[in-house]
Amino acid sequence: MKKLNIAVAGVGNRAKSGVIPAVLSGDKFTINTLCDVSEENLKAVSGLFERAPVCTGDYTKVLADPDIDGVVVITPNYLHAQMAAAALKAGKPAYLEKPIGINVQDCKVVCDTAKETGVPLMVGMQLRYNNVFNKMKELLTQGYIGALRIINYTQFREPLRDGWDNWRKDKSKSGGSILEVSVHHLDLFHWFSEGAEVKIFALGGGDVIKNETGMLDNILFSLEYDNGVRADIEAILFAKDGNHPRNGMYLFGSGGYMTVKGNSIIVTRMSGETETVAVEAADSTAAALDGFYEYIVNGKKPMITPEDGFRAVAAGLAAERSIETGKAVRLSEIMI
Ligand SMILES: NC(=O)c1ccc[n+]([C@@H]2O[C@H](COP(=O)([O-])OP(=O)(O)OC[C@H]3O[C@@H](n4cnc5c(N)ncnc54)[C@H](O)[C@@H]3O)[C@@H](O)[C@H]2O)c1
Repeated sequence: MKKLNIAVAGVGNRAKSGVIPAVLSGDKFTINTLCDVSEENLKAVSGLFERAPVCTGDYTKVLADPDIDGVVVITPNYLHAQMAAAALKAGKPAYLEKPIGINVQDCKVVCDTAKETGVPLMVGMQLRYNNVFNKMKELLTQGYIGALRIINYTQFREPLRDGWDNWRKDKSKSGGSILEVSVHHLDLFHWFSEGAEVKIFALGGGDVIKNETGMLDNILFSLEYDNGVRADIEAILFAKDGNHPRNGMYLFGSGGYMTVKGNSIIVTRMSGETETVAVEAADSTAAALDGFYEYIVNGKKPMITPEDGFRAVAAGLAAERSIETGKAVRLSEIMI
């Protein structure tokens, strides 16, 4: 198998604890360059490698390097769109962490540049590559619980971390808590529901963790898709840790419901009969990166497109607008 040389741009926490270990555990990529503006963070991740990669603070050098086959962009959210678009224009395939941008303009730049250049762009919303959610989608398609009616997701998790230069807690840089956290679940909901248009009503506030820039620490979303599927998310971002017993994903259908327990899916039919579908545990980031490889080498389209990334951001922006206005907002009002 041909190994590809990649550069990782942005080597903070997500790179160090998620993406770089996932790449190193596989056999598809060699990370030959690390790019970051923080010397300290470059030093901190260099220790993960047997053979030291090239370290640079200059992204333009990375894009000009003919030995690099692709880039993985893991920088703060406000830099995503411009860095991904620059990579595509330089002919470098890009794996771009979520969200693809923090506003509609950003998302359009990423989607349009991907279309115009034809260079592979994969969005790092790896939950579609999570074995459990993937199996849920398969069971849904097979009609295991009849027609999907309601999706419910509850998340009671620890507060957002600081990150480099405190970008994450500054709404003008992160896009807000919804784009930083709930964008993953909004994407899963679109995927499960297969709805095109969606109406979103949301309530939320920053009531426990005070933040002057408008970061929310609790959000309640209600969604109604044009195909009749309804959904809700409770995102409570001020818990002590992320292991609250109420946390979970439920899919309710006309013939029963399913939920997740560890690495299993529990299906309960209307008759009361239950079935446990065990799923092999696997690293979803590693699986998503395999998808990125397949896209570059074999042209196989990944499970998530730039447009899916745009829809997830737009749903988040619709929720933010709904919280501000007290009115329901449609996706099509945002994606204009
Ligand atoms: N997919 C997931 O499950 C998941 C999980 C966590 C974080 N993320 C995403 O990963 C990204 C990074 O999050 P994090 O927690 O690692 O943040 P972080 O602040 O720990 O790391 C960001 C890094 O980017 C570097 N950086 C800043 N400007 C740069 C530039 N111009 N060029 C190169 N490097 C630059 C910083 O020095 C820092 O090392 C965010 O977009 C976040 O939303 C995704």
